[in-house]
Amino acid sequence: MIQPSFAPRVFSGIQPSGELTLGNYLGAIKRFVDMQGPEFETVYCMVDLHAMTVWQEPHDLLKSTRELCAGFIASGIDPERSILICQSHVPEHAQLAWIFNCVARVGWMQRMTQFKDKAGKNSQRASLGLFCYPALMAADILIYHATHVPVGEDQKQHLELTRDIAAKFNHDYGVEFFPITEPVIEGLATRVMSLRDGTKKMSKSDPSDMSRINLTDNSDTIALKIRKARTDTQSLPSEPDGLKERPEAQNLVNIYAALAGQPIEKVLEEIGGKQFSEFKPLLADLAVAELAPISTKIKKLTSDTSEIDRILRRGAERARHITHPILERVYQIVGMVPK
Ligand code: TYM
Repeated sequence: MIQPSFAPRVFSGIQPSGELTLGNYLGAIKRFVDMQGPEFETVYCMVDLHAMTVWQEPHDLLKSTRELCAGFIASGIDPERSILICQSHVPEHAQLAWIFNCVARVGWMQRMTQFKDKAGKNSQRASLGLFCYPALMAADILIYHATHVPVGEDQKQHLELTRDIAAKFNHDYGVEFFPITEPVIEGLATRVMSLRDGTKKMSKSDPSDMSRINLTDNSDTIALKIRKARTDTQSLPSEPDGLKERPEAQNLVNIYAALAGQPIEKVLEEIGGKQFSEFKPLLADLAVAELAPISTKIKKLTSDTSEIDRILRRGAERARHITHPILERVYQIVGMVPK
């Protein structure tokens, strides 16, 4: 029996498909930054292999991956304190994913709502990669023996599957080799909604650019998108109960609270009774103050791709010190001939 010894380690990833949104920032990256510190070792990843489960123009994928790396750093991920990697640079992710393809069951994958949403009506024509996407995601996490995974709410089902895969592997092989990972879905912005429809998630794949704020938007664009954001006709309430059944109001107040780092109750004490015409400029000022410096830094960092590539190479070297021995143990456990 292999004894578990799981040091607190954080892993999370973002797909380099399109631009980073305020949803990614508040739901994920801001949390990634907060988790850097003495309590955890932190590993953050640009999941390029996941991105290609739906078609990506090669030059767009290359550009988006470097831009995502710049977005991480500009938002406060320190490539010295955290290990910052590109998924395809650390081959053990994909190697462990194969093993997990053989552990996970077809029925588990068929239940994944993200697959159903992304594959749409014609699921027979979806890539095989899109179908087994969650096994690669489980491998991303478990190849580091990560104990904590900060994500937005939409990733909850995938993290439950990661736990199921870890448990089945441990059970089938009679080991306690993989940790049962803790999802970290916390804060006010675990589900930031579209600015055009408060019942839909803010997403980089929404055809309307006005539905989201991108981290590369300039101050005028951010202010314009907030000014044009859909709302209802009532004024803002003074108590959280007054936001029920008002998805657009709830969303804008949540965004304000997440940006200000304040509880909803405190925000509503300040803004309760205001019209949206008074509240929106306050929200725009807050968003611009936080995001404009990030956008400027992204532009500066992406002007020198060689520095980004150097950071990613170094990240991969550090990552492989962790992933290589774990994969070797997995191969040993499942009965591969030692090299
Ligand atoms: P992705 O690239 O769709 O999103 C990256 C992160 O951003 C969060 N997020 C949001 N949070 C709040 N509100 C929103 N509107 C919003 N939109 C996105 C997501 O929840 C996510 O945390 N499968 C993952 C990538 C991945 C991964 C991993 C994550 C691959 N391997 C291992 C964690 C661990 C995905 O598609 O995220």
